[in-house]
Amino acid sequence: MGKLNIGLTKEQRQGVIELLNRDLADSYLLLVKTKKYHWDVVGPQFRTLHQMWEEHYEKLTINIDAIAERVRTLGGYPVGTMEGFLELTSLKEQTGEVPLATEMVSRLVEDHETIIRNLRKHVDQASEDFHDEGTADFLTGLMEEHEQIAWMLRSFIEGEQIHSDGSKPKLQPASAASV
Ligand SMILES: [Fe+2]
Repeated sequence: MGKLNIGLTKEQRQGVIELLNRDLADSYLLLVKTKKYHWDVVGPQFRTLHQMWEEHYEKLTINIDAIAERVRTLGGYPVGTMEGFLELTSLKEQTGEVPLATEMVSRLVEDHETIIRNLRKHVDQASEDFHDEGTADFLTGLMEEHEQIAWMLRSFIEGEQIHSDGSKPKLQPASAASV
């Protein structure tokens, strides 16, 4: 921990650095997963998903760098080893299988949603427990990006185009559809 005079105590900085390192680990795991699906995906939606996942992992790469550099800004050191990422992340890896495209999409939705829930908690903690509004604001921005990505991914599996079991969704009566 460096010596900083920015109106935060060492304990406050340590607190947010721990939160940031957890978010860094989650983002790193999701980056690896997104890249793997970008490589492995097959099916009629190949081109769309392959390209969309490239955009997502590019965004994650930028965010990962920003999180790590915010840790340095606060006088700490970012986690930077695969071992460290695996230890801190709250996401799970599914190794040794190539899921269907729809399954890939729904796993990524779940992971983005996990990250959104973590970030929402961390925003509160950064602001309320550690009085670091800068980090709270930074994490809020990240959360909004994950919310947007989760919406894009969800939109793939909510339509009828690529239902994983091949079934068509039932038509909703007009009254129910407007709810
Ligand atoms: Fe590529």
